[in-house]
Amino acid sequence: MTTLDGIAPAVESLGSAAYRRRHGVRLAYASGSMYKGIASADLVARMGRAGLLGYFGTGGLRPEQIDEAIGRIQRAVGPEGPYGMNLLASVDSPDRERRAVDLFLARRVRRVEAAAFLQPSAALVRYRLSGARRAADGSAVAPNSVMGKVSRPESAAAFLAPAPAHLVAALAAEGAITPEEAALAPLVPMADDLCVEADSGGHTDQRPLIGLLPEIVRLRDRAPGARAVCVGAAGGIGTPEAVAAALLLGADFVLTGSINQCTVEAGTADDVKDLLQAAGVQDTVMVPAGDMLEIGARAQVLGKGLFFPARANKLYDLYRRHDSLESIDEATRRQVQERIFRRSFDSVWAETAAHYATRNPAELARAESDPKHRMALVFKWYFVQSTRLAMSGDRERRVDYQVACGPAMGALNGYLAGTPLEDWRARHPDTLADLLMTGAATLLRRRLTELTGP
Ligand SMILES: Cc1cc2nc3c(=O)[nH]c(=O)nc-3n(C[C@H](O)[C@H](O)[C@H](O)COP(=O)(O)O)c2cc1C
Repeated sequence: MTTLDGIAPAVESLGSAAYRRRHGVRLAYASGSMYKGIASADLVARMGRAGLLGYFGTGGLRPEQIDEAIGRIQRAVGPEGPYGMNLLASVDSPDRERRAVDLFLARRVRRVEAAAFLQPSAALVRYRLSGARRAADGSAVAPNSVMGKVSRPESAAAFLAPAPAHLVAALAAEGAITPEEAALAPLVPMADDLCVEADSGGHTDQRPLIGLLPEIVRLRDRAPGARAVCVGAAGGIGTPEAVAAALLLGADFVLTGSINQCTVEAGTADDVKDLLQAAGVQDTVMVPAGDMLEIGARAQVLGKGLFFPARANKLYDLYRRHDSLESIDEATRRQVQERIFRRSFDSVWAETAAHYATRNPAELARAESDPKHRMALVFKWYFVQSTRLAMSGDRERRVDYQVACGPAMGALNGYLAGTPLEDWRARHPDTLADLLMTGAATLLRRRLTELTGP
């Protein structure tokens, strides 16, 4: 039998060497952001200490909480250590993005995972270009690294291109970037890394990786000035087989999400981790995404044994068919208030209105004059509440847990069944990374030997 030992990959040489060098990491791997600190400071710090890159989940946290997490991570891995923060596009509230970038620049955060961007925003461009300078060989060096998370070719193309000229000009005119930084903009693609997200936990377009990844790798190969951009794969990665397949499809690195939620360090309730550990690949379902209820965006969540998916679908269905809470028939109104909310619409609205009065008065004014919008905000309360219940682990309300999760979780559980890591209390994000990558190296070696034959 021929042996490929000489050419088959060792774990440290899987994926892109440029990616590993750029981030100072051992493996071409990352753990993705998970909102509200589910991808916690402990999780990211543990990854960093193991020489691996993790992104902290800033979504839904206040600036002071994010600031505190940055401090904890930097103390654990050093200011330049491998870690990054999530920067979420916020079309409705550009101020939120701007404040996040102010904080990242002030704290010298060197990596962001930019998610939900269809086009670069002014805040993202400012982050990318701040500190850009010309190297001795004439090329441009940008110290702030952006990983653009994409699930469509159009947004991939926007990250492979330099910052839009009109945004660069506007930022320079207001003094948010220097003339030198502005002058270098045409030499700097918006992202160092692209992460192609296929069928994943949480918000997802559910594209299959085998179709999407090669398409975006080709796009990168053809984009002028983007040869150095690494293209990673996410969505469905929970086994060595999945890592090996992604690498064969052309991935420079892989990124995991769902599987890290079921580790000791993840910032969610133990009760949720128990449920996740028992999930199979078939146990996730699609629901309306609470933060984008009006436009019908969808998210993938854990379904097994939970009522949340059916209840979320019911609320979305009511939202589509009615123009106001008042136009819903009395029996259904009672059912929603008693069974789903366990509260009256009036008390939910009082809480919601108080929240918006301080956070977003314009939104409150709109809801007060538009009954359909008021209904949307009342229904969204349930989505927020169901995430809170899951994060606090209120067992009595278990059926209402909203737990973002994709089939990678069940795939990992199947792989670990009967091993010491069957129990999540023995799982850590860095050990999962090593396990998947080492397994992929072994698998690739075996498969390549089999395929090339004796
Ligand atoms: C519980 C959970 C929360 C997530 N929250 C975020 C988030 O706030 N921002 C983000 O960019 N991605 C978020 N993601 C997506 C992950 O970063 C990652 O891209 C995705 O989970 C990869 O697919 P997988 O779940 O199949 O591994 C979340 C995923 C999960 C499972």
